[in-house]
Amino acid sequence: MVVAQRIPDVRREVAAARQRGRRVALVPTMGALHAGHASLLAAARADGGCVVASIFVNPTQFGPGEDFTKYPRPLDRDLAACAREGVDLVFTPTADEMYPSGFATTIRVTGMSEKMCGAFRPGHFDGVCTVVAKLLAIVRPDVAYFGEKDAQQLAIVRRMVADLDLPVEIRGCPLIREPDGLALSSRNAHLSPAERRQALALSAALAEAREALLAGERDGASLGARVRGRLAAAEGVDLQYVAVVDPDTLDDLARIGRQVLVAVAAKVGTTRLIDNVLLRGLTA
Ligand code: PAJ
Repeated sequence: MVVAQRIPDVRREVAAARQRGRRVALVPTMGALHAGHASLLAAARADGGCVVASIFVNPTQFGPGEDFTKYPRPLDRDLAACAREGVDLVFTPTADEMYPSGFATTIRVTGMSEKMCGAFRPGHFDGVCTVVAKLLAIVRPDVAYFGEKDAQQLAIVRRMVADLDLPVEIRGCPLIREPDGLALSSRNAHLSPAERRQALALSAALAEAREALLAGERDGASLGARVRGRLAAAEGVDLQYVAVVDPDTLDDLARIGRQVLVAVAAKVGTTRLIDNVLLRGLTA
């Protein structure tokens, strides 16, 4: 496994893999790798090509007062996890490598970036899009993997790639949970034992929503109200939003058709958590 901090080194390694006739898959991460990230790396590995992982805590997607400085950075453990998952190349740039002095470009997917998490984290998705576009330009993968855990991010990245005609296939991977339902997140490390118990209200409310959908609920407003009511009553949960939207466009759904994303965000203590349930192929 090669670890590269510099863009020219990444380009050289990827070019060498291409010369050997290998396809290239990219898994962008901010590190503090857990089983959710590992599932993306395993999917990339199963592709059979050269697997590139990036580990970069991207400053431009954190707002003032957010957890950029306290975001976990266990690099040695992360590199060991990458090696275990059969990663060929890990890109661990510095902030200066990605944003040298004079850097002045922002990529914004309008509309979709301003709702849901975007309403609570202004500019967040601009930072995500800009860094993902750069990573795609640096690595030039055939395919890039993203988790459905960050369903809004996935929809926005797909929109950006379509709008800019970027020559890459974006693949979404299922959300991975702890056995008790908690969605895996690098931020779970910040939860106290009591907060971790309180955080289970999110996955429990979404599991109920899933059951309701499978039982035929198709009214977006009443489904949203049910999840909102459940989470508003949950101890220790400071609810930010409940959204019932189309997973591709993020448009609100009054009437649920073949596919739906029910997404929530809440603070538990000082930790901001997101979770969702995504169903496709529903019958009307
Ligand atoms: P990060 O939060 O490290 O997540 C990296 C990738 O892992 C994302 O595609 C995310 O959706 C996926 N992931 C995280 N938790 C998951 C889980 N429980 N199940 C399945 N997949 C999961 O998302 C980012 O980093 C950044 O915004 C990034 C795209 C790297 C740009 O900086």
